[in-house]
Amino acid sequence: MKLIIINGPNLNLLGKREPEIYGSQTFEDYFSSLQFKFKDIQLEYLQSNIEGELIDKIQEVGFDYDGIILNAAAYTHTSVGIGDAIKAVTTPVIEVHISNTFSREDFRHQSYISPVAKGVILGFGLQSYDLAIESFRKL
Ligand code: DQA
Repeated sequence: MKLIIINGPNLNLLGKREPEIYGSQTFEDYFSSLQFKFKDIQLEYLQSNIEGELIDKIQEVGFDYDGIILNAAAYTHTSVGIGDAIKAVTTPVIEVHISNTFSREDFRHQSYISPVAKGVILGFGLQSYDLAIESFRKL
């Protein structure tokens, strides 16, 4: 099984960024632990702060990979383009968020990803990504 985690803007700062919300672990460290835990899965990872790069990657892998785990971060709440890219491809997408976006500001309650995602996992800290991988296993 071939899966990719795609992370959007500011998630490169995990570990430093608002640790009371996002925790103190870097994504690189966490990703190594995922690779160790899910040795039977081909797991890739891309982070970009640029909306078009996220869309390019969704298009590139979206007819070939078994699943995309997408945390579009702030673009979740604004990007018609990312929503359209998910609609355009055939690979299923699970939307993830580290925080519970529904317990935060109102603008975080809107998602352009949720209506076109296979499912949504949020609020479990970095463990949201583990749960998304497990979910792909069971699809
Ligand atoms: C986030 C939630 C978004 O509202 C925010 O803009 C992020 C991170 C999360 O994982 O909790 O950057 O996607």
